[in-house]
Amino acid sequence: MAAIGVSSSMPLGNDTKKIARFRGFRGLRPTGQSSMVKSAYYVRPISLFGSSTIVRAVSTPVKPEPSDVKRSKVEIFKEKSNFLRYPLNEELQSEAPSINEAATQLIKFHGSYQQTNRDERGVKSYQFMLRTKNPCGRVSNGLYLAMDTLADEFGIGTLRLTTRQTFQLHGVMKKNLKTVMSTIIQNMGSTLGACGDLNRNVLAPAAPYKSKDYLFAQETADNIAALLTPQSGAYYDLWVDGEKAMSAEPPEVVEARNDNSHETNFPDSPEPIYGTQFLPRKFKVAVTVPTDNSVDILTNDVGIVVVSDAHGEPQGFNIYVGGGMGRTHRIKTTFARLGDELGYVPKEDILYVMKAIVVTQRENGRRDERRYSRMKYLIDDWGIDKFRSVVEQYYGKKIEPFKELPEWEFVDYLGWHEQGDGTMFCGLHIDSGRIGGTTKKTLRAIIEKYNLDVRLTPNQNIILTNINRAWRKPISTSLAEAGILDIKYVDPLNVTAMACPALPLCPLAITEAERGIPALLKRVRAIFDKVGLKHYDSVVIRVTGCPNGCARPYMAELGFVGDGPNSYQIWLGGTPNQMSLAKSFKDKVKIHDLEKVLEPLFSYWKMKSLHGESFGDFTNRLGFDQLTEMVDKWDGSLEKVI
Ligand code: HEM
Ligand code: SF4
Repeated sequence: MAAIGVSSSMPLGNDTKKIARFRGFRGLRPTGQSSMVKSAYYVRPISLFGSSTIVRAVSTPVKPEPSDVKRSKVEIFKEKSNFLRYPLNEELQSEAPSINEAATQLIKFHGSYQQTNRDERGVKSYQFMLRTKNPCGRVSNGLYLAMDTLADEFGIGTLRLTTRQTFQLHGVMKKNLKTVMSTIIQNMGSTLGACGDLNRNVLAPAAPYKSKDYLFAQETADNIAALLTPQSGAYYDLWVDGEKAMSAEPPEVVEARNDNSHETNFPDSPEPIYGTQFLPRKFKVAVTVPTDNSVDILTNDVGIVVVSDAHGEPQGFNIYVGGGMGRTHRIKTTFARLGDELGYVPKEDILYVMKAIVVTQRENGRRDERRYSRMKYLIDDWGIDKFRSVVEQYYGKKIEPFKELPEWEFVDYLGWHEQGDGTMFCGLHIDSGRIGGTTKKTLRAIIEKYNLDVRLTPNQNIILTNINRAWRKPISTSLAEAGILDIKYVDPLNVTAMACPALPLCPLAITEAERGIPALLKRVRAIFDKVGLKHYDSVVIRVTGCPNGCARPYMAELGFVGDGPNSYQIWLGGTPNQMSLAKSFKDKVKIHDLEKVLEPLFSYWKMKSLHGESFGDFTNRLGFDQLTEMVDKWDGSLEKVI
């Protein structure tokens, strides 16, 4: 048994004066060690659990001496935070408009980023962005109306729908954070774990279909979200004075969380799965059904697909692991990656295998350098076979071979559809997910009047659900009067396009994305017209203000990734069904020079594509050498270059 001493005390929250501090952090192994992790440590915070300094260790690990283990600053903040409380609680009580560095890291776990308005010069105008967590994008009527009101009263008057089926509320002042958070919680919403080093919002098809496989995918997403929600109560302590207002968890979730038959847990910890250190980095899960790739399945750390029998009865799940978008410019060892096939498990095991995957990453993901902490780097380093064998040890069973799946398709659920229970749903396209002005007023009026629940899609759109047939006409009329176009009148380029928020609030933005995309799409449309492409010849375009890739530009047929002021890296090679990773085609293309690259590419596609060939398939078939030569030689006519 390894023993860890308590070496010092430090200030904590009002009621907590001391915390056990690791002499060196020893619960997790650094990357590169190949043997299966055998240990899990947990040190009890003294004042919370009496004076005991009992240390739990399930077996003796082979580890370097603690002093050799380099850890990032965020790891230290987490370790000292008393499960996400200190010093956030204290910082929130101060009169200052901002919070300190440690609290800024911790508040992410509570679902908020501290930001400043970068358009404003001089004194920094601190404010907070809040992100909700809505598994499957499900939002009750009450929560939608509450968010709508909060945006007006405490935000910047808009709601932002995100690419992870959640809301973002920008511009909340520190003094209003508690009111906003508690209102969300009282309306049975949550922001807990929407950002930070833990499981983020779990995606699942947003369509409210009543078929068995869709319902099962959504139930599974809910259960995984519940399984991996922080348990220490810090969130409720901070925002609603300890009053937890959530509905009871399904017993199978509680059972799976508490199960420690394969040494996955910190059994006496307030965080049995996460421990003091949570995960090395963000962790993203999506669940879907075969063919429905509305969730960009391969971009997630874990992608789960319901597998049903010939009668449509769900039997189990295929699992992909190791997807992720974020990268850093000019650092080739960082990259966007698609998930690999891990295998198949029977349906009753999904929570156990999820836990085994999470624990594999918790114990082995890098904690020294956050740039390499996502699970995709662990899998890339180990290879899928080794990763699978470690997961199997925590799962306690063999993972079966991946089952064959049919072709994937991108689905957006826009327009009017039958739900399958006699009611209808209506998917509405929202440019960059930004709901403001007349659109916001009209949506609120409709949602309020007909008492509708809504769903948010992973493409920044919204679905109105449970619509009685008789309401279709008046709802359509109200939408049309507000200029919310029937999907057949929206430019197909806009329908599939996405942009991240970027400037002015995102601290990491290098250049514009959301504010720039309307003009960019108009220019692409103008090029289409010029080279003779038709209205319906569409291309999936995604824009981000930096290489973190929040709007998944590396899956686009034409991706723009900010790499300087008014300058973008251009990515080509994603496909309409979101199953292929794009590659970087050109760097530092100035925004005013876009036509020089896009006009030859689109002309070439128009002239040389095979019947029905998408732009993504076309650029993949031709290859970058040919495309580059053609762009470089372009002088306004194809004749000279082909
Ligand atoms: C790798 C480092 C990353 C950092 C530091 C980061 C940081 C941020 C920040 C600060 C915002 C808020 C922007 C705003 O609303 O003002 C944001 C938004 C968002 N991020 Fe990231 N991000 C990272 C990577 C990613 C990746 C790889 C994804 C998934 C593909 C992602 C998904 C999102 C989503 C869904 C939003 C909401 C806005 C939207 O829908 O475009 N992030 N991120
Ligand atoms: S991609 Fe970059 S600029 Fe855009 S929201 Fe994410 S971190 Fe900010």
